[in-house]
Amino acid sequence: MNKTQARKFDDESYILHYQKFGCFPKIHQDIATIIREYASEAEPCMDIGACTSLLSVQAVEIGRSICVAVEANPSYIAKAVKHPLVVQERLRIKPSTLHLFERLLVAYRPTLLIARRVFSELESPDFVSMMAEVLSRNQVEKIVLEGRTKTKAATNALPDADAEVQALAPHYVVKYAYNDVRLLCRTT
Ligand SMILES: C[S@@+](CC[C@H](N)C(=O)[O-])C[C@H]1O[C@@H](n2cnc3c(N)ncnc32)[C@H](O)[C@@H]1O
Repeated sequence: MNKTQARKFDDESYILHYQKFGCFPKIHQDIATIIREYASEAEPCMDIGACTSLLSVQAVEIGRSICVAVEANPSYIAKAVKHPLVVQERLRIKPSTLHLFERLLVAYRPTLLIARRVFSELESPDFVSMMAEVLSRNQVEKIVLEGRTKTKAATNALPDADAEVQALAPHYVVKYAYNDVRLLCRTT
């Protein structure tokens, strides 16, 4: 692979490297640093759009008691890394399944939501705002998100981290920002 070919988030080599050496991918470095610094309490967390669960595994290795890895795509779940403290839940989060998403919040009581490059893939900014209301109502105290990198050519309705932050207001406000990562805390 040459330097211009970026590896996709589900790249097999990330999984193999973790299994052989216990190392996590560099793409997760910024968000993992913020989880370690500001959200390492031994309480449940939830990772949405968890893909192969490497970030979920890292969250429990940092200190979270369990991580609920919510993923829509069964082929990512099939190759996901197994860990005794990571619970896989297959769900496509969308308006018609929001009640099922809330059921997971009630069942597992996460106090932290991890959302790396996933809010931009959901239905719409309005739907993300609806999710914020549901998260807040279920005592999710913190959200750590990573948005897409800002580009002038962006066409997505949630093109970057700041647009995601806006969609989550007024229920959550930013406490810390670094590169494309934002730590948000519940306001209500
Ligand atoms: C850009 S990838 C990021 C993967 C992972 N968070 C990471 O950073 O390595 C987005 C992930 O979100 C999942 N996803 C997209 N839409 C989803 C939805 N509506 N509900 C649940 N997962 C979704 C995709 O299948 C994919 O695994």
